Amino acid sequence: MNKKEQYAAWYRQSIENPSQFWEARAHDYLSCFQPWQKVCYWDYTTADIRWFEGAKLNVAYHCLDRHLQHDAQKIALIFERDEPGQSEHITYQTLYEKTCQLANALLQLGVRKGDRVCIYLPMIPEAVIAMLAVARIGAIHSVVFGGFSPQALHDRIKDADCKLVITANEGVRGGKVVPLKANVDQALEIPTSVTQVLVIQNTQTKVPMNVLRDLYYHEVVNHQPKHHEPVPLDAEDPLFILYTSGSTGKPKGVLHTQAGYLLYAAFTFDYVFDYQPQDIYWCTADVGWITGHTYLVYGPLSQGATVVLFEGTPQYPTPSRFWQVVEQHRVTTLYTAPTAIRALMGAGDQYVTAHDRSSLRVLGSVGEPINPEAWQWYYQVVGEKRCPILDTWWQTETGGILLAPFLGVAEQRPGCAGLPFFGVVPAIVDVAGNITPPDVAGDLILRQAWPGQMRTVFGDHKRFVQTYFRKHSGCYLSGDEAKQDQQGYVTVRGRADDVMNISGHRIGTAEVESALVAYHCVIEAAVVSMPDALSGEAMAAYVVLRADYIWESDLEKKLMQQVSAVIGKFAKPKKIYCVEVLPKTRSGKIMRRLLRKIANHELSDLGDVSTLANPESVTALIDALQKKNISSEA
Ligand code: PRX
Repeated sequence: MNKKEQYAAWYRQSIENPSQFWEARAHDYLSCFQPWQKVCYWDYTTADIRWFEGAKLNVAYHCLDRHLQHDAQKIALIFERDEPGQSEHITYQTLYEKTCQLANALLQLGVRKGDRVCIYLPMIPEAVIAMLAVARIGAIHSVVFGGFSPQALHDRIKDADCKLVITANEGVRGGKVVPLKANVDQALEIPTSVTQVLVIQNTQTKVPMNVLRDLYYHEVVNHQPKHHEPVPLDAEDPLFILYTSGSTGKPKGVLHTQAGYLLYAAFTFDYVFDYQPQDIYWCTADVGWITGHTYLVYGPLSQGATVVLFEGTPQYPTPSRFWQVVEQHRVTTLYTAPTAIRALMGAGDQYVTAHDRSSLRVLGSVGEPINPEAWQWYYQVVGEKRCPILDTWWQTETGGILLAPFLGVAEQRPGCAGLPFFGVVPAIVDVAGNITPPDVAGDLILRQAWPGQMRTVFGDHKRFVQTYFRKHSGCYLSGDEAKQDQQGYVTVRGRADDVMNISGHRIGTAEVESALVAYHCVIEAAVVSMPDALSGEAMAAYVVLRADYIWESDLEKKLMQQVSAVIGKFAKPKKIYCVEVLPKTRSGKIMRRLLRKIANHELSDLGDVSTLANPESVTALIDALQKKNISSEA
C-alpha cells in the first residue's frame, strides 16, 4: 500500500470505526501501566468526551523514562540561547534526572495531584522540565506566555487557583530583558492562592526576594534525588490548562487530559512531520502557546526526538538568526509561523542564502493563514523547492493538528491547509447549519470527536458547551471561516467571530475593549481588525471619551500603555481613533463591519447602513478619520 492508499484506508476506518482505529494507534504510541476498558465515548450535547477510560499512564514517563533503555545518551534538547554561539546539548538521561529532581522538590513543597502550578518562564530548558515535572506528579500546569503583563498573569493565576509559580529572575529575548520576577511580584500584590514562588537564576541580575514566599530554584532542586517514580494517572485526569482568547468575556482555561491528548500529540507529530529518529526538529513556538505544548514538548519528546529550543527571536541580532541555527544544528524539520516567514522575507533573501540549508527536509507553518507570497518564498527560497510545506491548521482547543497537506498524500497548494487528519470530519456550513456547496465559505465545524480535543473550560463547563456545541447542534464549532473544494481540501480564511490573530497571537476584541474602557476617561471602545502585510491582521481601536475630556496627543500613548499593562505589549492596537459616538444598530449592537471598512479606508463602499440607529455617526466617523484626532502608532 502506498501512502495515499494507506491514508484513504485509515481515514475511512477512523470515521467508520473510531474505537478500532484509535485502539490500534494507542497500542502503537502509548505505554500504559494499566490498559483501558473503553476506547471512546462522546456526547456533543452535554460536551462529555472521554477517551481510554480505565487506563493508567504518566505523560512524563512517555517523554523520558521510556527512552532511557536505548536512547539515554540521545540529545533531547539543543538549547540555543538568545545570543548566538551559546548552545547546550541536553541528553534524555539528563532531562530525566532534572525532571525527577524538580518533581521531588515540588512534592517536598507540598504540591499534590490535581494542584495547579503556574509556569511563567522564558524559553529555557527549565520551562520544559517544569512542565514534565508537574505532569509527572499528577499536578496540572498552566503555562503563561512571558509576554503577558502582571495583570493578565494575575487573572490567570486567580482563575486556575494556582498554588505555586515557577518563574525566572528575568528572561532575555531579542537582546531585551523581560522582568519576569518583577511581573510575578506585581501579579501577586493582590493576594491569590499562591503560597510559593520558585525563582530560576537565569541571568546575573539580582532580584528582590520575598522571604515568606520566594525560593531559589537551584537551592530547592539541586540536592534532590535524581529518581522519582512516575505517578500512574487516570486517562481523563487533567494534564494542563492553557488560557486562550474567545469572542466574549475573559480568556478561557482550555483543559486537556492525559491519554487522548498524548496519543494525539505523538501520532500527529510522527505522521504529519514524517518523523525520523535522526531528525533535528525545530519548532519555534513559545511554550506559552499550544504549539509549544504539543509540538515542542509532548509530541516530539514522547517520540524520543531531538528538539531545538530557541530562546531568541527571528531577527536578533540579524535576520540571519534562524538560518544560522538551521545551519549550525543541521535542522531537518522547521515548524514556524507565517508572521516570522513574512518578516524574514521582507529582510531579504541574502540572509537566507548565506547559510547552508541542505539539512532541511520539511517546512511547517502554523497559527494563521499563510498568504501565497509568503508560502512561495518559504518554498522557493528557504526550502530551495526541495522541502514540502506543511500548512497545519488547528487550535488550542483541538490539542493537535486537524488539517494538513500530508506528505505523500496531498497536493501542495499555497494557502490551503489541505486534508483532515484521521478521525477528523470537517464540514463547512451556513448560518442555518446546511453544508455549503464546494468552494463556498461558511463556518468550519467538526462532526466527530478526536482524542486530542479539549474536555472543558476550567471551572466553567457551561461555557464550554455554549461556546463550542450550541451554534450547530451535535458539532464542534471552530470559530473559523473556511471553504472546502470538491476533493475535500480545506482553505481556512480566518476567524468568523470577534477574535483577532495578530502575528499569530490570538486576541479577543472584547478583552482589548475592556482594557480600554478601564482607562478613566474612556466610556466606550470598539476594536476591529485590519489586514496587515506583516502581522497578518492589525488592530484598530475606536474610543469614545467622557464628555469632559478632549483628545490630547499623549492620550494615544497612554491608551497603548493601558492595553500593554492589562494584557501585554503584543496586544497593542496599531491605530486608535477618537470618535464622538460609535455606530450602533437599533438593537444596540456596535456595527463592527462598518468600523472595519472605515479603518481600512474603504469609504466608497460602506454597505448597508439602513439598520443604524444613529446614521449621522457615519459622517462623524469619516470626519474623524480625516482629522487630527486620528493617530497611528509609529
Ligand atoms: O484562526 C485559526 C488560526 O489560529 C486559530 C487558533 O489559534 P490558537 O488557539 O492560538 O492556536 C494557534 C496554533 C495552533 C485558529 O482558530 N490558525 C491556526 N493555524 C492556521 C490558522 N488559520 C489558517 N491557517 C492555519 N494553518
